[in-house]
Amino acid sequence: MRASITGVGHFVPEKRLTNQDLEKIVNTNDEWITTRTGIKERRILDADKGTSYMGVRAARHALDRAGVGPEEIDLIIVATVTPDMLVPSTAAFVQEELGASRCWGFDLNGGCTGFLCALATGAQFIESGRHQKVLVVGADKMSAIIDYEDRNTCVIFGDGGGAVLLEPSPDGETGILDYELRLDGAGAKYLYMTGGGSLHPPTHETVDQKMHYIHQDGRTVFKQAIGGMSDMSGRILERNGVPGDAVKLLIPHQANFRIIDSVAKKLNLKPEQVMVNIQKYGNTTAATIPMAMSEAWAEGLMDPGDPIILSAFGAGFTWGSLLLTWTMAR
Ligand code: UT7
Repeated sequence: MRASITGVGHFVPEKRLTNQDLEKIVNTNDEWITTRTGIKERRILDADKGTSYMGVRAARHALDRAGVGPEEIDLIIVATVTPDMLVPSTAAFVQEELGASRCWGFDLNGGCTGFLCALATGAQFIESGRHQKVLVVGADKMSAIIDYEDRNTCVIFGDGGGAVLLEPSPDGETGILDYELRLDGAGAKYLYMTGGGSLHPPTHETVDQKMHYIHQDGRTVFKQAIGGMSDMSGRILERNGVPGDAVKLLIPHQANFRIIDSVAKKLNLKPEQVMVNIQKYGNTTAATIPMAMSEAWAEGLMDPGDPIILSAFGAGFTWGSLLLTWTMAR
């Protein structure tokens, strides 16, 4: 049995943070951000709302498109690095607000690769025959962990949510075909947030030292991301006999347009084979891929049977790619 995507949706907050806005608060400029990252603006969630607010709305969008009610869901997996709270899970808040009355669920932290980890995990429950409807959410309120005095991070990240519904493939053919994922903790020192966990519980000192903000060595992450995403995608396409020109769409994690462009070039893909929406939303961590998938489908870029490759790289380091054939008709 294959798991296939039968609903996809997304949600972004209304409030925009443009490059011009950032010019006023940190030493940067529109020209640098545009040429070095491809980003023009990001969305920012209200301070009094948490990640689940976006996850719920993205999930409703996906369920509406699938024509499935919340009470039919068996399992909710939320990929996020910005849970509403450490306890309980963000999945609990999503379940409650959705009214998904007969499911279980949990959160998963796979950094920027979180959505792929959650998708691969959710697929197992369908493939085993154990569950019929699995909701996979990727959502992050990055503005909650960004230091808006740190130009290395504040120009890149934004807030958003995306979701897919997984069901047994209606034709037994389309759906998730293959994936390969990796975790290498040697990368932890290049992308991290040290404060707030059990090692450094929040204190006045951790706050004074800005340990509740995300830090990254951008150059190292940048280089590793290109290698990791292109290697994994190339291997999966090759072993499944999908030549580059047969790929309908690469939907990559949206971290930096130059990373996406380099990966596409290494895979010999043409620009029209690559989904890019980073200019509008920046890097929304676990949400970038389902958000881009939702927009790609709405724009008519994917039809049933089309080979689609997803790929991501992020904190851990975690990285990987997933190959599927598209299921949803327009
Ligand atoms: O989602 C997974 C996690 N994150 C990523 O995948 C992000 C990967 N990394 C990146 O996207 C890039 O490394 C950044 C966008 C973070 C930085 O771009 P870069 O091209 O790697 O810049 P850099 O750090 O090598 O800095 C180049 C120059 C430096 O100036 P000097 O030393 O050459 O004079 C920086 O000080 O650009 C300067 N700079 C900036 N200037 C204006 C760095 N950030 C900025 C900025 N505005 N925001």
